[in-house]
Amino acid sequence: MKGKRILLIVGGGIAAYKSLDLVRRLRERGMSVCAVLTDGGSQFVTPLALASLSGQEVHQELFSLTAEARMGHIELSRDADLIVIAPATADLLAKAAQGLANDLASTLLLATDTRVLAAPSMNLRMWLHPATQRNVATLRGDGMLFVGPNDGDMACGEFGPGRMAEPLEIVAAVEAALAGNTAIPLPMAQSAAPGPLAGLRVVVTSGPTHEPIDPVRYIANRSSGKQGHAIAQAAAAAGASVVLVSGPVTVPDPAGVETVHVETARDMLEAVEGALPADIFIAAAAVADWRVGAALAEKLKKGASGPPTLGLVENPDILATVAQAARRPPLVVGFAAETEKVIEHAQAKLARKNCDLIVANDVSPASGVMGGDANTVHLVTKDGVETWPKLPKQEVAQRLIARLAALIKESGA
Ligand SMILES: Cc1cc2nc3c(=O)[nH]c(=O)nc-3n(C[C@H](O)[C@H](O)[C@H](O)COP(=O)(O)O)c2cc1C
Repeated sequence: MKGKRILLIVGGGIAAYKSLDLVRRLRERGMSVCAVLTDGGSQFVTPLALASLSGQEVHQELFSLTAEARMGHIELSRDADLIVIAPATADLLAKAAQGLANDLASTLLLATDTRVLAAPSMNLRMWLHPATQRNVATLRGDGMLFVGPNDGDMACGEFGPGRMAEPLEIVAAVEAALAGNTAIPLPMAQSAAPGPLAGLRVVVTSGPTHEPIDPVRYIANRSSGKQGHAIAQAAAAAGASVVLVSGPVTVPDPAGVETVHVETARDMLEAVEGALPADIFIAAAAVADWRVGAALAEKLKKGASGPPTLGLVENPDILATVAQAARRPPLVVGFAAETEKVIEHAQAKLARKNCDLIVANDVSPASGVMGGDANTVHLVTKDGVETWPKLPKQEVAQRLIARLAALIKESGA
């Protein structure tokens, strides 16, 4: 994302202080940030703070003789790769939904065909009000992307939806939007050709599973969900209707994807079976192989009898179950996370589980794959092995989806 240019509109919400941190986070990742501060926004943060953190002039006036002479107000948005509104106030969203253009921010939003990502922030009653919900639905329909709002404690002392997404969540949504990983087309691109997976249904699993030991302890693994979520997003961007079944992760739900949240392997299998039939099944989740046979209803206590024995039993094999089901999707893709003999294990898994393709990767600690942003994968099929260079997980996802689209086309499915 190095070199990408973000136009950040800071509206008049109490969360505007978090936008100062957002500027830092975006710049840490090599992006440049040009800020537009609304009149309301300037009641909460100063242009000086924004200018100091962004290292650029801050724009506030629509009718500015000096600014207009240097750079037309419309150029501001034309120069950007992405427009981010944070905080997106109820007022800014209402103006944008109506197509009003009576200040610099709203005029820029109307005069652009650049993708816009909004991070709403407001009191929960403002957020839940039918007027705001109507405006958000209109804007989504127009192609605007949203991140948050989250549930949480509000500055006004209430609790509920309306709290602005945290800066790092906004950064993740910015990166996804810049990578084109969004199912929602740009308003100006609506006549573009349908994606290669248009009309197809894709089910993806992602993240770890948590297997309870007792009400407070569980068995887990280090999967972050970044790769699986990126695949779901890439499939949606390719036009598929996507169901993502996700274990417990901290990465945000991808835009334009139906995400089902589960905890255990058994929940995951049930959610996957509920999402079938599908044209493609991609099992990217790191599902626990075992669970505690008899998880306890009360917290285990330390006692004189020494450490407890966790009687482990095998979890259902989601990949094999789907690959052998009567309603087997035409294309079944598994992931093999290995710490040694990566390719041999993947080849064995391909045959054992009756799938069409295994994406194998080395997840030993030295590889940095688990939780990291890059991945080196090997595509294993019955015809051979193809090794891709180390790539950002989003690029692995896009390439994989392009490959699956080609396979589906070849098979005529
Ligand atoms: C203390 C205070 C906090 C506010 N916080 C919010 C907020 O979080 N979200 C919101 O939509 N409006 C909030 N408002 C109301 C907006 O500031 C007001 O609607 C303003 O016109 C928004 O302008 P702008 O979005 O164009 O900057 C707040 C107002 C005050 C006085």
